[in-house]
Amino acid sequence: MGLDIGCGSGALTIACAKRNPQGKMIGIDRWGKEYASFSLPLCEKNAAAEGVKNALFRRGNAVKLDFPDESFDAVTSNYVYHNITGEDKQALLLETLRVLKKGGTFSMAMVTISDATMMPRLVHKVAIVTFLSSSA
Ligand SMILES: C[S@@+](CC[C@H](N)C(=O)[O-])C[C@H]1O[C@@H](n2cnc3c(N)ncnc32)[C@H](O)[C@@H]1O
Repeated sequence: MGLDIGCGSGALTIACAKRNPQGKMIGIDRWGKEYASFSLPLCEKNAAAEGVKNALFRRGNAVKLDFPDESFDAVTSNYVYHNITGEDKQALLLETLRVLKKGGTFSMAMVTISDATMMPRLVHKVAIVTFLSSSA
């Protein structure tokens, strides 16, 4: 079972579900005003268009996930973590790790700004971070 945090239009959730037909993916998103073109019906429409039946979508907040501890073998997220800042960033990471099974995989991509003072709009990097949670 995998969780995609901030799934938007469902693209990554659907891609993971397609690659893992034996498993299930859940995509969650708050679908707020800032990304108004994304929605739960759009995710469901996209999954149906791809013939994917092992993905489901729910409204949820990444900083307070509505799942028990260690629910997921894998957690993915694409371009979401840089949107969440301050104390919420800590809550986000703690929640991500809380719902991930020990020995599970967490993989995310996010944008980082290399030098905010010198070139605030020009230099962006994409960080792709994957790690296995500790089984200790
Ligand atoms: C840049 S979009 C990326 C969407 C998708 N992952 C993709 O790759 O196309 C960021 C997404 O994160 C979602 N998001 C931001 N903060 C969130 C939060 N606290 N809880 C859930 N979703 C959140 C937004 O609603 C938006 O859909």
